[in-house]
Amino acid sequence: MTIIALINQKGGCGKSTTAVHFAYWLATKKKKKVLLVDADAQQSSSEWLSGMSLEIPNKVVQTPDDLLDQIPGLAGHYDLLVVDGPASLAEATRAILFRADLAIVPVQPTGVDLRSASDAVRLIKQAQSVRGGPPAAAVFLSRAVKGTKLKEEAIALLSKTPEVTMLKTVVHQKQAIADTSGQSATVWDLSSRPAKESTQEYERLFKEVLAML
Ligand SMILES: Nc1ncnc2c1ncn2[C@@H]1O[C@H](COP(=O)(O)OP(=O)(O)OP(=O)(O)O)[C@@H](O)[C@H]1O
Ligand SMILES: [Mg+2]
Repeated sequence: MTIIALINQKGGCGKSTTAVHFAYWLATKKKKKVLLVDADAQQSSSEWLSGMSLEIPNKVVQTPDDLLDQIPGLAGHYDLLVVDGPASLAEATRAILFRADLAIVPVQPTGVDLRSASDAVRLIKQAQSVRGGPPAAAVFLSRAVKGTKLKEEAIALLSKTPEVTMLKTVVHQKQAIADTSGQSATVWDLSSRPAKESTQEYERLFKEVLAML
Protein backbone atom coordinates (compact mmCIF):
# COMPACT_ATOMS: atom_id res chain seq x y z
CA MET A 1 0.00 0.00 0.00
CA THR A 2 3.00 2.30 0.26
CA ILE A 3 3.83 4.48 -2.74
CA ILE A 4 7.44 5.62 -3.15
CA ALA A 5 8.32 7.82 -6.14
CA LEU A 6 11.65 8.69 -7.73
CA ILE A 7 11.20 12.15 -9.15
CA ASN A 8 13.29 14.92 -10.67
CA GLN A 9 12.51 16.60 -13.94
CA LYS A 10 16.22 16.77 -14.71
CA GLY A 11 17.08 13.96 -17.10
CA GLY A 12 19.83 11.47 -16.42
CA CYS A 13 20.09 11.88 -12.64
CA GLY A 14 19.43 8.17 -12.00
CA LYS A 15 15.66 7.89 -11.40
CA SER A 16 15.15 4.79 -13.56
CA THR A 17 18.35 3.07 -12.42
CA THR A 18 17.47 3.67 -8.77
CA ALA A 19 13.83 2.62 -9.30
CA VAL A 20 14.83 -0.69 -10.92
CA HIS A 21 17.42 -1.47 -8.23
CA PHE A 22 14.97 -0.51 -5.48
CA ALA A 23 12.16 -2.66 -6.89
CA TYR A 24 14.58 -5.57 -7.31
CA TRP A 25 15.93 -5.18 -3.76
CA LEU A 26 12.44 -4.97 -2.26
CA ALA A 27 11.27 -8.06 -4.16
CA THR A 28 14.32 -10.28 -3.70
CA LYS A 29 15.97 -9.20 -0.45
CA LYS A 30 12.91 -7.97 1.47
CA LYS A 31 10.39 -10.41 -0.04
CA LYS A 32 7.89 -7.63 -0.66
CA LYS A 33 5.12 -7.73 -3.21
CA VAL A 34 6.24 -4.81 -5.35
CA LEU A 35 5.09 -3.16 -8.59
CA LEU A 36 7.20 -0.70 -10.56
CA VAL A 37 5.07 1.99 -12.20
CA ASP A 38 6.94 3.35 -15.21
CA ALA A 39 6.00 6.97 -15.92
CA ASP A 40 9.16 7.60 -17.96
CA ALA A 41 8.42 8.23 -21.66
CA GLN A 42 11.40 6.08 -22.66
CA GLN A 43 9.88 3.14 -20.73
CA SER A 44 13.41 2.12 -19.85
CA SER A 45 12.71 0.72 -16.39
CA SER A 46 9.76 -1.48 -17.43
CA GLU A 47 11.73 -2.87 -20.41
CA TRP A 48 14.72 -3.44 -18.13
CA LEU A 49 12.66 -5.35 -15.56
CA SER A 50 10.79 -7.33 -18.21
CA GLY A 51 14.13 -8.53 -19.61
CA MET A 52 15.30 -9.97 -16.30
CA SER A 53 15.19 -13.69 -15.63
CA LEU A 54 13.32 -13.02 -12.40
CA GLU A 55 10.51 -10.83 -13.65
CA ILE A 56 9.41 -8.06 -11.30
CA PRO A 57 5.85 -6.82 -11.96
CA ASN A 58 5.80 -3.52 -13.82
CA LYS A 59 3.26 -1.33 -15.55
CA VAL A 60 3.58 1.66 -17.85
CA VAL A 61 1.33 4.53 -16.70
CA GLN A 62 2.24 7.86 -18.23
CA THR A 63 -0.36 10.57 -18.56
CA PRO A 64 -1.10 12.77 -15.55
CA ASP A 65 -4.76 11.66 -15.60
CA ASP A 66 -3.85 7.96 -15.73
CA LEU A 67 -1.30 8.38 -12.92
CA LEU A 68 -3.85 10.11 -10.70
CA ASP A 69 -6.59 7.61 -11.53
CA GLN A 70 -4.65 4.34 -11.52
CA ILE A 71 -2.04 4.61 -8.76
CA PRO A 72 -4.44 4.12 -5.79
CA GLY A 73 -6.08 1.03 -7.33
CA LEU A 74 -2.71 -0.50 -8.20
CA ALA A 75 -1.34 0.24 -4.72
CA GLY A 76 -4.18 -1.79 -3.21
CA HIS A 77 -2.76 -4.98 -4.74
CA TYR A 78 0.87 -4.58 -3.60
CA ASP A 79 2.94 -3.97 -0.45
CA LEU A 80 4.84 -1.24 -2.28
CA LEU A 81 4.65 0.72 -5.50
CA VAL A 82 7.90 2.18 -6.83
CA VAL A 83 7.11 4.97 -9.30
CA ASP A 84 9.80 5.88 -11.85
CA GLY A 85 9.10 9.53 -12.63
CA PRO A 86 9.49 11.21 -16.01
CA ALA A 87 12.01 13.80 -17.18
CA SER A 88 10.72 17.29 -17.99
CA LEU A 89 6.97 16.71 -17.57
CA ALA A 90 5.86 18.83 -14.61
CA GLU A 91 2.22 17.76 -14.79
CA ALA A 92 3.00 14.03 -14.61
CA THR A 93 5.42 14.65 -11.74
CA ARG A 94 2.73 16.69 -9.98
CA ALA A 95 0.21 13.86 -10.43
CA ILE A 96 2.70 11.39 -8.91
CA LEU A 97 3.32 13.74 -5.97
CA PHE A 98 -0.42 13.92 -5.32
CA ARG A 99 -0.42 10.13 -4.81
CA ALA A 100 2.99 9.33 -3.30
CA ASP A 101 3.64 8.67 0.39
CA LEU A 102 7.33 9.37 -0.08
CA ALA A 103 9.19 11.24 -2.84
CA ILE A 104 12.88 10.59 -3.36
CA VAL A 105 14.90 13.01 -5.50
CA PRO A 106 18.23 11.81 -6.94
CA VAL A 107 20.49 14.81 -7.55
CA GLN A 108 23.71 14.82 -9.55
CA PRO A 109 26.42 17.08 -8.15
CA THR A 110 26.56 19.69 -10.93
CA GLY A 111 25.43 23.32 -10.88
CA VAL A 112 22.61 22.73 -13.37
CA ASP A 113 21.37 19.67 -11.51
CA LEU A 114 21.45 21.42 -8.14
CA ARG A 115 19.33 24.24 -9.56
CA SER A 116 16.83 21.80 -11.05
CA ALA A 117 16.62 20.02 -7.69
CA SER A 118 15.11 23.20 -6.30
CA ASP A 119 12.37 22.94 -8.97
CA ALA A 120 11.64 19.40 -7.75
CA VAL A 121 11.57 20.61 -4.14
CA ARG A 122 9.13 23.33 -5.19
CA LEU A 123 6.73 20.78 -6.71
CA ILE A 124 7.02 18.69 -3.53
CA LYS A 125 6.23 21.71 -1.31
CA GLN A 126 3.18 22.49 -3.47
CA ALA A 127 1.89 18.92 -3.14
CA GLN A 128 2.51 18.96 0.62
CA SER A 129 0.60 22.22 0.93
CA VAL A 130 -2.39 20.97 -1.12
CA ARG A 131 -2.48 17.62 0.70
CA GLY A 132 -1.88 19.08 4.14
CA GLY A 133 1.25 17.03 4.87
CA PRO A 134 2.33 14.23 2.54
CA PRO A 135 4.38 13.29 0.65
CA ALA A 136 7.43 12.94 2.89
CA ALA A 137 10.49 13.77 0.82
CA ALA A 138 14.24 13.34 0.67
CA VAL A 139 17.10 14.02 -1.71
CA PHE A 140 20.26 11.97 -2.20
CA LEU A 141 23.44 12.55 -4.14
CA SER A 142 23.50 10.34 -7.24
CA ARG A 143 26.33 9.62 -9.70
CA ALA A 144 28.84 11.50 -7.52
CA VAL A 145 32.54 11.17 -8.27
CA LYS A 146 34.68 10.39 -5.24
CA GLY A 147 37.16 13.02 -4.13
CA THR A 148 35.75 15.86 -6.24
CA LYS A 149 35.12 19.39 -5.07
CA LEU A 150 31.71 19.30 -6.78
CA LYS A 151 30.62 16.43 -4.57
CA GLU A 152 31.66 18.23 -1.37
CA GLU A 153 30.00 21.49 -2.51
CA ALA A 154 26.79 19.65 -3.38
CA ILE A 155 26.68 17.97 0.03
CA ALA A 156 27.22 21.32 1.76
CA LEU A 157 24.49 23.02 -0.30
CA LEU A 158 21.87 20.27 -0.06
CA SER A 159 22.33 19.73 3.65
CA LYS A 160 21.61 23.45 4.13
CA THR A 161 18.28 23.19 2.24
CA PRO A 162 15.79 23.33 5.10
CA GLU A 163 12.71 22.08 3.24
CA VAL A 164 13.89 18.58 2.53
CA THR A 165 15.82 15.78 4.24
CA MET A 166 19.15 14.83 2.75
CA LEU A 167 19.89 11.11 2.92
CA LYS A 168 23.35 10.24 4.21
CA THR A 169 24.12 7.67 1.53
CA VAL A 170 25.83 8.87 -1.64
CA VAL A 171 25.53 6.65 -4.74
CA HIS A 172 28.76 7.04 -6.68
CA GLN A 173 29.29 7.02 -10.42
CA LYS A 174 30.38 3.47 -11.32
CA GLN A 175 30.79 1.75 -14.66
CA ALA A 176 29.26 -1.36 -13.05
CA ILE A 177 25.98 0.53 -12.55
CA ALA A 178 26.06 1.96 -16.09
CA ASP A 179 26.51 -1.59 -17.41
CA THR A 180 23.47 -3.07 -15.69
CA SER A 181 20.62 -1.85 -17.93
CA GLY A 182 22.20 -3.17 -21.15
CA GLN A 183 22.52 -6.59 -19.53
CA SER A 184 19.00 -6.59 -18.04
CA ALA A 185 20.74 -7.05 -14.72
CA THR A 186 21.32 -5.33 -11.40
CA VAL A 187 24.58 -4.80 -9.51
CA TRP A 188 23.68 -7.86 -7.38
CA ASP A 189 24.12 -10.00 -10.52
CA LEU A 190 27.67 -8.75 -11.22
CA SER A 191 30.68 -10.15 -9.44
CA SER A 192 33.27 -7.33 -9.71
CA ARG A 193 34.50 -5.45 -6.66
CA PRO A 194 33.03 -2.10 -7.89
CA ALA A 195 29.65 -3.84 -8.35
CA LYS A 196 29.89 -5.14 -4.77
CA GLU A 197 30.58 -1.60 -3.53
CA SER A 198 27.51 -0.38 -5.42
CA THR A 199 25.32 -3.10 -3.86
CA GLN A 200 26.43 -1.82 -0.45
CA GLU A 201 25.61 1.79 -1.38
CA TYR A 202 22.19 0.84 -2.70
CA GLU A 203 21.43 -1.29 0.38
CA ARG A 204 22.35 1.60 2.69
CA LEU A 205 20.28 4.01 0.61
CA PHE A 206 17.20 1.78 0.50
CA LYS A 207 17.33 1.11 4.24
CA GLU A 208 17.42 4.87 4.83
CA VAL A 209 14.43 5.28 2.51
CA LEU A 210 12.38 2.61 4.30
CA ALA A 211 13.28 4.17 7.66
CA MET A 212 11.47 7.33 6.52
CA LEU A 213 8.10 5.55 6.29
N1 LIG B 1 25.59 5.54 -10.21
C1 LIG B 1 25.74 5.48 -11.53
N2 LIG B 1 26.94 5.24 -12.08
C2 LIG B 1 27.12 5.19 -13.42
N3 LIG B 1 26.13 5.38 -14.31
C3 LIG B 1 24.90 5.63 -13.83
C4 LIG B 1 24.62 5.69 -12.43
N4 LIG B 1 23.29 5.95 -12.26
C5 LIG B 1 22.78 6.04 -13.50
N5 LIG B 1 23.72 5.86 -14.44
C6 LIG B 1 23.58 5.93 -15.91
O1 LIG B 1 23.20 7.26 -16.22
C7 LIG B 1 22.26 7.27 -17.27
C8 LIG B 1 20.98 7.96 -16.77
O2 LIG B 1 20.43 7.17 -15.71
P1 LIG B 1 18.86 6.95 -15.61
O3 LIG B 1 18.30 6.54 -16.91
O4 LIG B 1 18.63 6.09 -14.42
O5 LIG B 1 18.41 8.44 -15.28
P2 LIG B 1 16.93 9.05 -15.30
O6 LIG B 1 16.91 10.07 -14.23
O7 LIG B 1 15.94 7.96 -15.25
O8 LIG B 1 16.90 9.74 -16.72
P3 LIG B 1 15.56 10.27 -17.50
O9 LIG B 1 15.16 11.50 -16.78
O10 LIG B 1 16.07 10.54 -18.88
O11 LIG B 1 14.53 9.19 -17.42
C9 LIG B 1 22.05 5.83 -17.67
O12 LIG B 1 22.87 5.57 -18.79
C10 LIG B 1 22.52 5.02 -16.46
O13 LIG B 1 23.06 3.77 -16.83
MG1 LIG C 1 14.33 7.49 -16.51
